[in-house]
Amino acid sequence: MQNYFYPLVENPYRYKDLKKAKKILDSGKLTSGPVTEKFQNSFSKVMNTKYSLMVNSGSSANLLAFQCLINPYRKRRLKKNDEILIPALCWSTSLWPIVQSGLKPKFVDIDIDTLNINLKDLEKKISTKTKAIMLVHVLGNCTNMDELMKIKQKNNLILIEDTCESLGTKYKKKNLGTFGEFSTFSFYTSHQISSGEGGMVCCKNVEDAEILRSLRAHGWSRGLKGEKKIAKLNKSLDSRFIFYNSGFNVRGTDVSASIGLSQFQDLNLFVKSRLRNRNNIVKEMHKNKKVKTNFQIIKENTYVNPSWFGIPILVSKKLNRNKIVNKLEKWGVETRPIISGNFLKQPAIKKYNIKTKGKMKNADYVNKYGFFIGLKTTHMKNDEITKLIKIFEKSI
Ligand SMILES: Cc1ncc(COP(=O)(O)O)c(C=O)c1O
Repeated sequence: MQNYFYPLVENPYRYKDLKKAKKILDSGKLTSGPVTEKFQNSFSKVMNTKYSLMVNSGSSANLLAFQCLINPYRKRRLKKNDEILIPALCWSTSLWPIVQSGLKPKFVDIDIDTLNINLKDLEKKISTKTKAIMLVHVLGNCTNMDELMKIKQKNNLILIEDTCESLGTKYKKKNLGTFGEFSTFSFYTSHQISSGEGGMVCCKNVEDAEILRSLRAHGWSRGLKGEKKIAKLNKSLDSRFIFYNSGFNVRGTDVSASIGLSQFQDLNLFVKSRLRNRNNIVKEMHKNKKVKTNFQIIKENTYVNPSWFGIPILVSKKLNRNKIVNKLEKWGVETRPIISGNFLKQPAIKKYNIKTKGKMKNADYVNKYGFFIGLKTTHMKNDEITKLIKIFEKSI
């Protein structure tokens, strides 16, 4: 593996995080338990997400949200082939849970300046079959949430916020992940906080929370608020083993919850530190005329207090993105595409015969000219920043 001078991710685990995990390892109770519960409660309280359930990844959180939407216990239940709007710039498992739940994704273009969903195209794509928006908040930034909420309300759409890349971002002081009926978060290693693998699925009413809870663990009635009532209605069964719903097993564990909670307690520090590093890098990039004219750095949208995931960059149209990226990599700066680029270009889309009419002009543009670099949580020294800018200058 290449040893990068400026990697996408550094080891995010501090001694104090691992010490908490060691305590759990020593206890021998490694599955989901009281620490997972504590993490969920703390998450709900701090983020203002009403019900929060820890799962083993952000992907599982997305899967449970869509499986909840089609669940027979849900009053307003989505039906086969109902349309879900989703930005073309999305992650693989923002999309597949829609398909895996028998629903139909319809892609929407993005804005180049924010990388987030284009609201004009979103409105254009709404039809009588449209039932929900799978909103992906890209890399710590977001769209105009006031306008998005107006569109949602006007068209009576359900909103699922994929906040896997944007934990800690606020729009007009309100946390992303608190606008929609559902929201999801990821604590994978490269994200704002990390629990190794891990995620959270959040919702706003107890009915959905009950469905999510049973889906998360085999469809079991165990731990549901209605557990006793279900047992009464099923007297021929052992009350401890009643399968009330369909299900998966995507629970978090106390080991990862202990690391996640320890990191979550310092989320604000991480956000501030990343923002300081980003601002210092951008300031230096803008001081260098050659770098400034050849690289466009994506800024936060109006009213957004960003919790940056990385530094998304578009190269000038005169340059060849791949050549630049190869040079940056060669000289020790790790890069990656902006999420997955225009997801419609991925081979799996063809295989599953997924189509949306119309061009994704801006997503194509970002696919062709975009990449992102990481953002350290620890303080970056001036000479490190100077070296990074020099590498950028040399790559042109
Ligand atoms: C937008 C988005 N959604 C979902 C996920 C999936 O999260 P996880 O890796 O925890 O499964 C990711 C992963 O990075 C993501 O970027």
